[in-house]
Amino acid sequence: MTSEPSTAGLHNVVRIYRAASGEVHALRGVDVDFPPGGITAIAGPSGGGKSTLLSILALRDRASAGTVTLFGTDVTQAREPALKALRRNSIAWVPQRPAHGLFPHLTATENLQQISRIRGRSSGLEPAATLDLLGLSHRADARPGRLSGGEQQRLAVAAALTRAPALVVADEPTAELDDENAERVLAAFAKVAGQGTTCVLSSHDPRALRQLPRVLHLRHGVLSAERSGAEVHQVREADAVIDSAGRLQLPPEALKLFPGRRTRVQVIDGQVVLSAPQENS
Ligand SMILES: Nc1ncnc2c1ncn2[C@@H]1O[C@H](COP(=O)(O)OP(=O)(O)OP(=O)(O)O)[C@@H](O)[C@H]1O
Ligand SMILES: [Mg+2]
Repeated sequence: MTSEPSTAGLHNVVRIYRAASGEVHALRGVDVDFPPGGITAIAGPSGGGKSTLLSILALRDRASAGTVTLFGTDVTQAREPALKALRRNSIAWVPQRPAHGLFPHLTATENLQQISRIRGRSSGLEPAATLDLLGLSHRADARPGRLSGGEQQRLAVAAALTRAPALVVADEPTAELDDENAERVLAAFAKVAGQGTTCVLSSHDPRALRQLPRVLHLRHGVLSAERSGAEVHQVREADAVIDSAGRLQLPPEALKLFPGRRTRVQVIDGQVVLSAPQENS
């Protein structure tokens, strides 16, 4: 692990939700540090605990056990006024449902201006530049309710990144976006990370994970050893044609993976995955 002091750290963090149907162990002893100025992605399956981890990191929720450190201070037992001040001045939060973080009665520009005022910062990206970076200049005068789902998501990211504070935590910031806009969002994160802001985002979007240098995997509330995005996703792309009978000709490097010339086909969230057939099938 890095010798730099971390912006934020979770140590042995447990989160148990108590529901009528019983206890849900959403985080089971998570240890992670976020060094200053980097981008970290939390990947993993739905229900794995990503939103839970990010809400604890962004001080939207409290751990059931373990330690949360922010900017060199243990905030595990901090009182609400202190947490509120940190949320207001030092942490930007992009919720999984982006409209939840926006002012509905203000236009896109006014939303960013208001947030900049609340943050009270004069350095970093100014509102107009942030809108431009996220491809929203033409919607500057629209209120959130008049924006498409993807535009709302980009506005929520813009709101986090304008005059960005020390820590930005974003829950699935590219989930609603096409490739071009997902690129814009990642480029905007890279820009503020380059200016010293620590960015933590969750994603199960392979496009995003492929590009990010640090990807941690969270499954059943357990964080696995970290690997870089490039190592996890060795991606080679090639175009292939499907004929009218549905036959697909695989490129040679893909064909090598199926020496028995049989494959198992899974359709997952609109993507087709081919893998070696299971034994005996
Ligand atoms: N308020 C809650 N009460 C009870 N259980 C909850 C609550 N919030 C989340 N959970 C449960 O905790 C686990 C982790 O949920 P979480 O939302 O953190 O997952 P996630 O990785 O963000 O999933 P997704 O990719 O679908 O957003 C799930 O089993 C979920 O059902
Ligand atoms: Mg989630």
